[in-house]
Parts: sequence; structure tokens; C-alpha cells
Amino acid sequence: MEANWIRESSYTVVFTGAGMSTESGLPDFRSANKGLWEQRDPSKVASIEALENDPQAFIGFYRKRILGASGYEPHRGHRILAGWEQQGFLQSVITQNVDGFHQDAGSRHVSELHGTLRTVHCQSCGRSYPASEFTEGSGRCAACGGMLRPSVVLFGEMLPEAPFEQALTDTERAELFIVLGSSLTVSPANQFPLVAKDSGARLVIVNREPTPLDRYADAVIHGRNIGDVLSEWDEQLK
Ligand code: APR
Repeated sequence: MEANWIRESSYTVVFTGAGMSTESGLPDFRSANKGLWEQRDPSKVASIEALENDPQAFIGFYRKRILGASGYEPHRGHRILAGWEQQGFLQSVITQNVDGFHQDAGSRHVSELHGTLRTVHCQSCGRSYPASEFTEGSGRCAACGGMLRPSVVLFGEMLPEAPFEQALTDTERAELFIVLGSSLTVSPANQFPLVAKDSGARLVIVNREPTPLDRYADAVIHGRNIGDVLSEWDEQLK
């Protein structure tokens, strides 16, 4: 795959997973021996059951994740994607990530399928607060006393409707759909590359390791860092 597919496409969508943020220093979930879920069972700390039945483990895990992410920032790959949006090479970013790095780097059209660590909300009344209310504050809703929790999609929860609908609309319009850094193992997010393909888009998958959807792709790039691949394409687009 060369950058001319990007130049030729009049509607390009990028779909990112945790592999997009590892070069910023954040761990992903399933990379062998260093992914977050290699060290702990997500159902015990990142599920609606954990929130209800083991709030201490839940709060401890997410306090660490929120504070951990605050020490990192977008890398060149995020900035290249934001530049392509400004130059008209990229129309939409769909992300499974909750770190907010695409927006920090300047991307404006971003659909966060799995929510964000940047805000928390009350589990009872839904009122929103900055994440600091959860990491430093009482952890309780000032309005109703309910428990605060990060505004991320927990295992067992539905995805937020508006970002999902926007992502679907963009995917159905895509002429080129580029996956960056996802194992494509978590549904329903992992359906988007197939919807793109069914809608007639070219599908490109850039992921260090093989994914279950590689066989549907028009081009697959394994074993390379996303930052290097995006930098190479960016040079070719100049
Ligand atoms: N360059 C290219 N690929 C990379 C890089 C990199 N620098 N770093 C990691 N990868 C690849 C890994 O090989 C891995 O296959 O990115 C992929 C990340 O996959 P996961 O860790 O499974 O992350 P993701 O696909 O985003 O997980 C989906 O699962 O736990 C839930 O809600 C969570 O959004 C997350 C969802």
C-alpha cells in the first residue's frame, strides 16, 4: 500500500485501537506479556459487575489508569492524522481509545466508541464531572451522592449511541478505511472494517501482529510501528 491510495480517496476513515497510543508510552491491552489484560482479568476491574460488586478494585484500577494517562501525550502519528484532516486527506477518525490523544493532537472529527477517561459521571443521576473529581475528590456526586465512574464503556455496557451512529455513517461513506493498532477482537467495534468493505471501501490494516480480519484487507502491514508507517506516507503525500 502506498500513500497514493490516500491521495486518490475522496473519503478516508481511520480506525484506531490501543496500538495507536503505545508509542506515546501507554500500554495496550493484548500485546504479548505487556498488554493490560495480560496482567489482570478485565472482568474483575473494567466491567459493570466490578463496579457493582468490587468498587474498591474498580476505583483503584481506574484511578491508576486516569493518573497514568495524564503523564503522556500524543505522538507524531496522532499529529500526522490531524494534519491530514486539515489538508483534506482524512475525513474521520473512529477510535476505541479513551486517552483523548487524537483531539489533543488537533483532530476534530473524532468518534470515541468506548468513551473517554477525561470525564467521569454519576452512576445514579448521570451528572458529568472532570476526572479529577474521581482521582482526588470524594468520588461521590455532589448533587445526589451517587458513585462517580469514568465515562468509558465498561465490559457489559452498551456503546454510546451518538458516536456509534456517526462512526457508522462515516464508515458507510468511506472509500478508504485504514485500521491502525487494533487486534480487532472486541465487538461491536470490530465490525466497522467489515461494514467499510461491504460498502465498497478499500481496507488497509496496519497492526504489529496479525488480526482476524486480515484476510478481508486489500493491504496488510505487520511488524512495523504505526508512527514509522504514517511518517512514510506523510512524506509521500508532500
Ligand atoms: N504499531 C503497530 N501496532 C501496534 C503498536 C505499534 N506501535 N503497538 C501495539 N500494536 C498492536 C498490537 O500488536 C495489538 O494487536 O496493536 C494491537 C492492540 O490491540 P489491543 O491491545 O487488543 O487493543 P484494542 O484492539 O484497541 O482493544 C479493543 O478492548 O479492552 C477493550 O475497550 C478496550 O478499546 C479496547 C478494546
